[in-house]
Amino acid sequence: MLARLTNKHILLGVTGGIAAYKSAELIRRLRDAGAEVQVVMTAAAREFITPLTLQALSGNPVHTDLLDPAAEAAMGHIELARWADLVLIAPASADTLARLAQGLANDLLSTLWLAASGRKAVAPAMNQQMWADAATQANLDLLRQRGVAVFGPGSGSQACGDIGAGRLLEAVELAALCADQFQSGSLTGIEVVITAGPTREALDPVRYLSNHSSGKMGFALAEACIEAGARVTLIAGPVHQPTPARAHRIDVVSALDMLAASERAVAEAKVAVGPARTIFIATAAVADYRPARVAEQKIKKGFKDDTLELTLIKNPDIVATIAAQADKPFVMGFAAETQAVEGYACDKLARKRLDLIACNDVSRSDIGFQSDDNAMTVFWPDGATPGRAELAKASKPQIARALVALLAARLPAGGRTASGDDASLTRHADEIL
Ligand SMILES: Cc1cc2nc3c(=O)[nH]c(=O)nc-3n(C[C@H](O)[C@H](O)[C@H](O)COP(=O)(O)O)c2cc1C
Repeated sequence: MLARLTNKHILLGVTGGIAAYKSAELIRRLRDAGAEVQVVMTAAAREFITPLTLQALSGNPVHTDLLDPAAEAAMGHIELARWADLVLIAPASADTLARLAQGLANDLLSTLWLAASGRKAVAPAMNQQMWADAATQANLDLLRQRGVAVFGPGSGSQACGDIGAGRLLEAVELAALCADQFQSGSLTGIEVVITAGPTREALDPVRYLSNHSSGKMGFALAEACIEAGARVTLIAGPVHQPTPARAHRIDVVSALDMLAASERAVAEAKVAVGPARTIFIATAAVADYRPARVAEQKIKKGFKDDTLELTLIKNPDIVATIAAQADKPFVMGFAAETQAVEGYACDKLARKRLDLIACNDVSRSDIGFQSDDNAMTVFWPDGATPGRAELAKASKPQIARALVALLAARLPAGGRTASGDDASLTRHADEIL
């Protein structure tokens, strides 16, 4: 299933052979499946296809030289090796296979191959006699013994006029074999849009109304969703949180900005994977009201006035707006309450047509807003009495993983990708905590 490639970092090594042109198509297939691709070319490969072509297709600069000071400063061989979830060399020449088998490190590709500790694969391509040669086969045996996956080669007519084994597999076959290297996560193939942090509602050019939300919970959830295989768009209010690797972050300021960004991201996600595979998670602490008028100039302190009256108007309800869509995605809300937590949460669940709501008691100083920990009760519609699960106090990343397990369990059958029934996935949420 190609969706397993979502968010994956594929480092594609291209070596010198006629089949190097096929790497262009392979890059497209990998990217279409949601992978990010960086390309490393050997000197010989550059005689067969230009780095410019592969740069344009991968959307990243192509790496060629081991001893290039500029490249080392940007992303050296060690960083490239660490970046990769899979190093695939396609096409892999007989020469490169020999160098890999011997552990040589005399160019960028062979050096980072040694430096990479993760998944590795080669897709050989060469003349049938070169393929059949005992030296080539012995080199491949060595690589296989070290856990390297060997993709192909295929058989058929060759560029040199021979017929036999040694053809590079087609791009579509190689992409599928790459996907097979990865396990399917509970949210593989799912698009998730998450809002996080506070919003700021301007009073004048220098002042605003806001709240204490840190954004930690939303950012932790974004990370947990990515870990589970989802593609994540994170719409963040003004917060000081590092962007989780592989999240697409959109920074916004006000509630109106956040609504517009959410509607756009959800629409794009629905086009990409359909509503049943789109999840909207609203963790942001959106200001309920905004000043009716934003003063153009700084509001001055009046000499006589001891009070200042502000007129506020209601902001749109972002989560309810998304949940009211005709082809609504799966919607998860959050409730931060200081009293009657359960009552308010269940009311929100029904009134806003949510599929899941996670609520916490922000009157407790040991959890919630600025804290590193959280504890939650989660509710979902289930006939007359909502279903519920308790997530005991734990770090926000742990709570986030448990929430993702609950989310995956509650997704409609058309959106669910993990094997397992509701009960087993809910059990999984318990096991995480
Ligand atoms: C026109 C031409 C086509 C070649 N095709 C292949 C090939 O398909 N497979 C292969 O292993 N070597 C092929 N070679 C030989 C390699 O380019 C040569 O061994 C080179 O040193 C490989 O370097 P590299 O592995 O660092 O890219 C070809 C050479 C030429 C001149």
